[in-house]
Amino acid sequence: MRYLILSDIHANHEALRAVLAHARRKRWDKAIVLGDVVGYGANPNQAVDLVRGLKPLVVIRGNHDKVCSGVEDGEMFNRVALQAAMWTRQKLTPSNLRWLQSLPEGPVVVDGAFAVAHGTPIDEDAYIFGEIEALNVFRQTAFSLCFFGHSHFPVVFGLSPDAIQTVLTTPPSFRFRLQPGVRYLVNPGSIGQPRDGIPLASFALFDSRTRSVSVYRLPYRIERTQRKILDAGLPRPLADRLALGR
Ligand SMILES: [Fe+2]
Repeated sequence: MRYLILSDIHANHEALRAVLAHARRKRWDKAIVLGDVVGYGANPNQAVDLVRGLKPLVVIRGNHDKVCSGVEDGEMFNRVALQAAMWTRQKLTPSNLRWLQSLPEGPVVVDGAFAVAHGTPIDEDAYIFGEIEALNVFRQTAFSLCFFGHSHFPVVFGLSPDAIQTVLTTPPSFRFRLQPGVRYLVNPGSIGQPRDGIPLASFALFDSRTRSVSVYRLPYRIERTQRKILDAGLPRPLADRLALGR
C-alpha cells in the first residue's frame, strides 16, 4: 500500500496543487492528512475542497483547524495567527466549517500499520523540534512508526536500542528504508508554510510493502500566493515568510 502523507497545508492553494500534480505522477493508494488544512493562507475553502476531493482515509485536526472552525478560541495564538484564524472563520463555507469541526484528534492508527498525530501522539498541540522531544515521545508510546506535523520541517527521528538519530531530508527528494528494530517519528514537512529555510512545498509517500519513505520538495507559485494574502488584507508577515521558508 502506498500512502500519500500531507501536512500543514495552511490554505495555500498553489502549493497544494503543485503537490497533488506531482503526486498524481507517482502511484498512491490512500491519502492521509496530518492537520492544519487551513489558517494563515488566503484560500481556506479551496484547500479544504481539494483535500475532501482526495477522499482521504484519515484526516486529523491541527491547532489551526480547531481555532479557524471555532472548536477552540485561540488564546494561545499570537496576534498574526489569531487575525488569520478569525478571517478564515468568516470565509469558510458552512459545509467546510462543519467538516473542520468534525475532524478527530490524533493519534489515529492507520490500517493497524502506523500512527499519525498533528503535534505529538501524546499532545496534539505540542511540538517535536529535536531529539529530546522525540525521545520523550518514544518513551511514552509504543508506536514503531508515527507520522507527525506541526513543526513545519521534514525530519526523521529513529530510535534504535542504543541511540537516537536525526535525519534532515534534503531537496528535491529523499528516500530511505525503515530498518528492522528501529522506531521512527517522521515529519513529511509542510505543504503551505515550510519553516526550514527552504521555501519549497514538502510532502511524503510511504510504501508499506517496501517499508520506504520518500520526502519530496517542490517549487510553486509563491508570488501568486503572497499576492492573494495581501489582497485579502491578511498580515504582511504571512506573505513575506513564504519566500524565506520561515
Ligand atoms: Fe501548522
